[in-house]
Amino acid sequence: MLWKITQNLLTTVVVFYTGIHWGLASIPGIYLVLTTIEKTFDSSNFERALYIGISVGLAYVLWMLSTIILTSFLSFIFKPSIGATRVPFLSATSIRWGFLNVLDRLAKPCIHHMVPSWITDFYYRALGCKIGRGSFVSSDRINDPYLVSIGDNTIIGSKVIITPHLAEKNELVFSPIVIGNNCLIGLGSQINPGCVIGDGAVIASRAIVPKYTNVPAGEVWGGIPAKLIKKK
Ligand SMILES: CC(C)(COP(=O)(O)OP(=O)(O)OC[C@H]1O[C@@H](n2cnc3c(N)ncnc32)[C@H](O)[C@@H]1OP(=O)(O)O)[C@@H](O)C(=O)NCCC(=O)NCCS
Repeated sequence: MLWKITQNLLTTVVVFYTGIHWGLASIPGIYLVLTTIEKTFDSSNFERALYIGISVGLAYVLWMLSTIILTSFLSFIFKPSIGATRVPFLSATSIRWGFLNVLDRLAKPCIHHMVPSWITDFYYRALGCKIGRGSFVSSDRINDPYLVSIGDNTIIGSKVIITPHLAEKNELVFSPIVIGNNCLIGLGSQINPGCVIGDGAVIASRAIVPKYTNVPAGEVWGGIPAKLIKKK
């Protein structure tokens, strides 16, 4: 009962906070559009449509960038320093994790439009994700980045879900995920908590790697649940 009341209260606060967060991020874009409207006051309708149209498009881009910067900043400050642990649903850690998750969800639509890029790498790194040199992160679905480590020259395909947490038996279970150097994590696959993917390993597209799986270096794994397909 206490859990339900707390949950309803917090989710209501979150809904209104969403408006404030996105609203603050829209300030630079709105400023640009208002200035363009003012500066083109004496131009022809065609010119106004052209300039105002472009400024609206740029305002959207500015909104996305501002959302990423604002979210990175807040997440950097509030990110928890947790390792492998289990906590009850109603606990200080789970509430802090939930707040981080809300922030992450506010940035996700923007991340979705921008992967892979240095901008999204910056975002993941600000949230504590380790991304090695030459790696290429094409997924907008890395959860709890502070528990994820990606080596050098590794490719994370699009729609890959990397999730170091799971809800189980009234608890939140956290365990870091480590992906080595020169790996290929195939399109749409899912890497669960506690997995270690060895150097040079390949995870086939759409595979689901169960929690705490150790994929040895140089092996190709695929399927649901993922199993060894072959050695490279
Ligand atoms: C797993 C993968 C690397 C295998 O490619 P490959 O080395 O050329 O091997 P093959 O296509 O000859 O397949 C080898 C075996 O794996 C199986 N296999 C291939 N893709 C699979 C998949 N996604 N899931 C499960 N099994 C798969 C094949 O059926 C075959 O089985 P068999 O030996 O019993 O006939 C490849 O299919 C793959 O998923 N690559 C990921 C690419 C990707 O998503 N890149 C990032 C985004 S662009």
